[in-house]
Amino acid sequence: MRGQVRISGAKNATLPMLAAALLTGEECALVDAPRLRDTAVMEAILTSLGVAVHSETDGEGRRVLVARAGSLEAWHVPERLVGEMRSSIFIMGPLLGRLRRARISYPGGCAIGPRPIDMHLRGLTQLGAVIRERGGYIEAETPGLVGAEIHLDFPSVGATENLMMAAVLARGTTVIHNTAKEPEIVDLQNFLNKLGARIRGGGTDAIRVDGVASLGGGEHTVIPDRIEAGTYLAAVGAARGEARLENVIPEHLDAVLSKFGEAGLQIHREADALSVQCGRRLEATDFKTLPYPGYPTDLQPQATVLACTARGISMITDTIFPSRFTQVQELRRMGADIRLEGRTAVVTGVRRLSGATVSASDLRSGAALVLAGLAAEGTTVVEGIHHVDRGYEEIESKLAALGAVIQRLE
Ligand code: EPZ
Repeated sequence: MRGQVRISGAKNATLPMLAAALLTGEECALVDAPRLRDTAVMEAILTSLGVAVHSETDGEGRRVLVARAGSLEAWHVPERLVGEMRSSIFIMGPLLGRLRRARISYPGGCAIGPRPIDMHLRGLTQLGAVIRERGGYIEAETPGLVGAEIHLDFPSVGATENLMMAAVLARGTTVIHNTAKEPEIVDLQNFLNKLGARIRGGGTDAIRVDGVASLGGGEHTVIPDRIEAGTYLAAVGAARGEARLENVIPEHLDAVLSKFGEAGLQIHREADALSVQCGRRLEATDFKTLPYPGYPTDLQPQATVLACTARGISMITDTIFPSRFTQVQELRRMGADIRLEGRTAVVTGVRRLSGATVSASDLRSGAALVLAGLAAEGTTVVEGIHHVDRGYEEIESKLAALGAVIQRLE
């Protein structure tokens, strides 16, 4: 691999911010919003609720997604859209805040294991929502949300975002404890505060929201996608060579850069870019996913691929989504030596993987299989590439710009 690539705006920052646009009747503009299947689904959900959504291009060629929830017509999110993406559950908070009611079917999502929403529903109930679950739908309504003291059992990203957004228009103060600290949550806080919200503590384990009567409009540039950046770092580790990644916030990848460095990747940080080089076989390295700032679960499949051809035995544990190893049986078809023990993959490095036809079942394991194909001898066909398109903008053209021989088969 040799070349440079620009990292897109973060999918997992854009999705909650699109949901947050429901909280105001004014125009919201998200600069550098990525063109992805997941963001397209969220746009369709907003449109189905009566939100005017369109995209423009700014002077630097970046996409600007503009949403204006002037007069919401509906509070029921159609099942066909919710089923495509689990993240749609955080529509509930803004809908309850703005319309005092919401109705969505049980969210669908990836094949990475059960995706409960108990913390979302418990927190919304504490804020004064009355929630009924029946016939595969969740219906919520409230005479008006009231600030509360909420303790999350686990620092859930989605629950933190959902409850933050619900609290913005609630009467009084809300404090959410044991919150997730991901950069995307800080980005959501900054965006909401630009609209007139009063939120503090994003990025720490306690977030305070002082309710306001209403929000205005505003423009916000989405932070770069740290998971996409980590995926391209792993691509160089898998296929060897060097690359320069532009539009990166290196601090958002501290744990990733540390582990990839331990494995043998040479990474140089700049203010808003990363240069990465890999000239030799990587060393076996243990990975354990944790809530931010720990190593992210969304880069666990990519780390598993690096371990497949590293020297020695690597232990890869996913504490967030214990069954997020759908890529393992596909990698075995390519010659990988991997044993699953509960939530840990024990990977014994082999010299090289061999090309094969493999199938993706979720967006991150799909991306990992593409990386494995870059590292393997011969040709690899990754089926189910639509999963990858949920979270990676133009993956084949970005990888081709780095020298990969890759094409999309219609
Ligand atoms: C967000 O999902 C991300 N999605 C995921 O990225 C990411 O893997 C995950 O956070 C962890 O970092 C978006 O931001 C859109 P969680 P989310 O709530 O919010 C359990 C990708 O590849 N849990 O932090 O759904 C849950 O089952 C996607 O871009 C409950 O038990 O993750 C999981 O084990 C995949 N009850 C753990 O918490 C709840 O009410 C972490 O989930 C909520 C979550």
